[in-house]
Amino acid sequence: MASDGCFLDEIVDRRNTNSIKWDTIASPAGKRTILPMWVADMDFRAPDPVLAAMRDAVEHGVFGYAGIPEDVWHTVSDWANKRYGWEVPPEWFSYTAGVITGLNIAVQTFTRPGEKIVIQPPVYPPFHSSALANGRHLIYNNLLRNDEHMYRMDLKGLSDQIDADTRMLVLCSPHNPVGRCWSRQELENLADLCVERDLIVFSDEIHADLLLDGRRHTPFAALGPEIARRTITGIAPSKTFNIAGLKASVIITPDAVLHHAFDAAQKKTFGLYDANTFAVVGMQAAYRHGEQWLDTVLEYLKANRDYAVDFIEAHLPGVHVTPSEATFLLWLDFSPTGLTHDEVSEKLEGEARVLLNDGRCFGANGEGFFRFNFGCPRETLRSALQRIADAFSR
Ligand SMILES: Cc1ncc(COP(=O)(O)O)c(C=O)c1O
Repeated sequence: MASDGCFLDEIVDRRNTNSIKWDTIASPAGKRTILPMWVADMDFRAPDPVLAAMRDAVEHGVFGYAGIPEDVWHTVSDWANKRYGWEVPPEWFSYTAGVITGLNIAVQTFTRPGEKIVIQPPVYPPFHSSALANGRHLIYNNLLRNDEHMYRMDLKGLSDQIDADTRMLVLCSPHNPVGRCWSRQELENLADLCVERDLIVFSDEIHADLLLDGRRHTPFAALGPEIARRTITGIAPSKTFNIAGLKASVIITPDAVLHHAFDAAQKKTFGLYDANTFAVVGMQAAYRHGEQWLDTVLEYLKANRDYAVDFIEAHLPGVHVTPSEATFLLWLDFSPTGLTHDEVSEKLEGEARVLLNDGRCFGANGEGFFRFNFGCPRETLRSALQRIADAFSR
């Protein structure tokens, strides 16, 4: 099932490249036989201009301490303006070696031990640990699901749970794992509540560039000056251009006091003063020259999603697919199969030899769910789905 000779059909062997997705698999036999459809990176080579820029850096051969020149921030600013219609002056930017590093710095800088942080499960596991590992309490404002398996935020539940100790909300937009691209109206309602209840928001928008079906991203901080003042946003070229291993990400903080506090904490408390040479080079090349590559990837991902949804509907009647508007992730509900969570897990890994993310890691309401990564060549996708269908038909 190739797709008219697209370069993204190429199967790149990622084994023995220190890949978490491909190489962190228990046994050598597992490594040979398991198809990994879990960790959220894609199996595509990065855009050629990124590879060329990195080759140039290697050829230069001197790898002294690297900073972020103003020019790079102008490139990121142009990207935010063009892709999200958001004007971001360079003085709002900070560099971090990962959005989750930025989240942890924000938690430590803008909340105190014992205070409460809101997350909306099912949600990316480090959202849970960023609060708990730092001695903060979590408020779980579970997402609600309708009859079409579509999720929405429970703003009434959120309003009821916020109390005087609640300091921060961590937003995932677009949302991993349920694939929602929140509407402007949903975001505005949330923003109104955050302003009214005086919450700081960490808005993780790492998947902002991976919107399917021509959707356009709405940055939370761009909704108005009141919400901008209290929002710290994380974006990155990592998911977008499949360069997560470079650890380049961008924190955007419009409020000057919060911005300086974040930078000071990152430097003085965490000792993070500079950047990785390849992160800077890769990030600039990606944002400056990667747009055409990305637009091809988005078309390919859309076709992969549609292929996966059609396949599951036809061959896995006991599995409900959450409609996916963004990301390269599908949130699959196996509970209608009648099997327990552990039985499904055993069937997937033991029988189908396909590795998905266990839904329970995303929150208690992930019971019965598994997350499936479709950011791969069509043939890999077809093979993984066929293995699952064969296992469940036995
Ligand atoms: C919502 C979300 N935030 C952050 C990350 C990881 O970001 P980083 O590697 O920049 O820390 C991921 C990776 O899957 C993610 O899905």
